[in-house]
Amino acid sequence: PRNIYFSRHGESLYNVMGLLGGDSDLSARGKQYARALPSLVATHIPNHERLTIWTSTKRRTIATAKHLPNKKLAWQALDELEAGRADGLTYNQVEELFPEDFANRDNDKYNYRYQEGESYRDVVARLEPVIMDLERTDDILIIGHQAILRCLYAYFMNYSHERLPYIKIPLHTVIQLSPGPYACEEKRFKVDI
Ligand code: F6P
Repeated sequence: PRNIYFSRHGESLYNVMGLLGGDSDLSARGKQYARALPSLVATHIPNHERLTIWTSTKRRTIATAKHLPNKKLAWQALDELEAGRADGLTYNQVEELFPEDFANRDNDKYNYRYQEGESYRDVVARLEPVIMDLERTDDILIIGHQAILRCLYAYFMNYSHERLPYIKIPLHTVIQLSPGPYACEEKRFKVDI
């Protein structure tokens, strides 16, 4: 494809409380981002009426796409990294309840698998069909989650497994990637809210 567009969902209630995972709705700021998206898309994305929006099956990505008039598709494969027994906890609570796990994750974040949950390596494997579809389709905007977008970004930008789990994917920003023969170019469009 010529350009691929990514955005995290707008700020969620769990983001505000610092909780992992869950299926919370957007915060007031997150809703503002959702309302701002149609004009950002219209301003920066050529042929935006041809765009298809891919979301996860979580409320926060679907709510972020809500005001866009485009076709939409919700993929379970785009759901956030499953934190298993850590789901719904803060990082501090995870450290307290599962100190060994917390240290292991720090040592090898790519391979660490949450108890009853997933690792980044697991997520990369489940994203394979999404990437296959993405490779042969134009005009896709993915509204996703932090860990998921790190994996997709690393795939197109050729980042190592070591760097992947630490890539910064800010909120309220659309990232445009333009794959070329040698490298992938990148632009970012940020909404100030
Ligand atoms: O905090 C938001 C979030 O998407 C969590 O749901 C998820 O567990 C986390 O980010 C992934 O980031 P990290 O792998 O750095 O904890």
